[in-house]
Amino acid sequence: MKFYIDSADIEEIKQANAMGMVDGVTTNPSLVAKTGRKHEDVIKDICAETGGLVSAEVLATDADGMFSEGMELAKLADNVVVKIPMSDEGLVAVKRLTSEGIRTNVTLIFSPIQALLAAKAGAALASPFVGRLDDISTNGMELISQIRQIYVNYGFKTEILAASIRHPIHILEAALIGADIVTVPFKVITNLTQHPLTDKGLAQFLKDAEKVPQ
Ligand code: E4P
Repeated sequence: MKFYIDSADIEEIKQANAMGMVDGVTTNPSLVAKTGRKHEDVIKDICAETGGLVSAEVLATDADGMFSEGMELAKLADNVVVKIPMSDEGLVAVKRLTSEGIRTNVTLIFSPIQALLAAKAGAALASPFVGRLDDISTNGMELISQIRQIYVNYGFKTEILAASIRHPIHILEAALIGADIVTVPFKVITNLTQHPLTDKGLAQFLKDAEKVPQ
């Protein structure tokens, strides 16, 4: 399973990359807004930091606007993936961008049928939002499971990018189901290495090491 970082913060991305945790990056308008920098500059810097795919989201909501914004974003770097929100217009834009050889990531997916449509339109990635479904008392991981089944049934090549990940159990469950990618916020990445028995074991090893003659 590939690990992406869900962030537009270049320092977080550098730190996670140094840990080998950045197979790719997802951004969205809310994450870019937090940086206080221009969208294009943020995306260029992130693309220079990682060779992995970097999702950059369009702001237009009509197909023509999404298509032309997507074409511009794709010019920023070879590893840009154009992120398109799920909608009728979005699917038109995905089909057009795909026919131009540009990879797309359909975002804001909350139902298995939306994921089926994204795959049929030719999206490289489909992003179901697990945590936001959990937030409204709906099992987000069940969505990942259903999409996996549909994509297997029909041999779709679209990769499932489990998004809106909130904690390590989401990652474990996504891996067990067979999601292709999880995109993880930096604070969750740093939680993944933690285990009380690791801390306890290390403290004991260091204590015992003091008894080793120098
Ligand atoms: C994915 O591409 C999105 O940027 C992201 O995972 C959304 O997560 P959130 O629900 O924590 O905002």
